Amino acid sequence: MDAMHLPKSWPVEQILDNLAQHGFAIIDQAYSPEYTGALVHECSTHLNEFRDAAIQNGVVSNIRSDHILWIDQQLKVAQQHIQALNALSQHLNQAFFLGIKEAEAHFACYNAGEFYALHRDNPQGKNGRMISTVYYLHEAWENDWGGELRLQDKNNQWHIIHPEPNRIAIFQSDLLHEVLEAKHQRLSITAWLRTDQPLW
Ligand code: OGA
Ligand code: MN
Repeated sequence: MDAMHLPKSWPVEQILDNLAQHGFAIIDQAYSPEYTGALVHECSTHLNEFRDAAIQNGVVSNIRSDHILWIDQQLKVAQQHIQALNALSQHLNQAFFLGIKEAEAHFACYNAGEFYALHRDNPQGKNGRMISTVYYLHEAWENDWGGELRLQDKNNQWHIIHPEPNRIAIFQSDLLHEVLEAKHQRLSITAWLRTDQPLW
């Protein structure tokens, strides 16, 4: 995990406090317009490479209908986001002893009509995912476009999180959540902060 500086706009104490109290935190206006623009461009130019997320190892599931592209070293702009998350992981490890070593991430595209039904990213601690993060990178989002992240916090309260552009939702990977059906194209990067090497 590379050492790197946390973006100045990330309120680390507030993030740690919200994670401790509720199991989730939100960062708004996470990045500069220049960086966000570069990320949108990188995502858009690779949209033709996105694959059906429901198909894994040839097996089709009906829990989700979005399309994804795993982020590797070639995707230089997205790599910077992963570096920022690595910097955040150092704070998370200090505060909560999570033992995060790696981040794995993919772009996701939900076209109109697509969704991700209720799930946990790490049910019963069966994988190394400790913290899930979702960065929303579409250029605009209206409140009636659907596509909300609905999340049950660690005290069993439900929250509706709108996928506002340039927002990052951060939550414990064991929490129950879903993506409601989007009515417009919804672009994001999901990244998991994990204790071991990704399996893919
Ligand atoms: C996921 C997920 C939530 C979102 O990718 O596992 O739950 O808001 N994403 O995109
Ligand atoms: Mn999820």
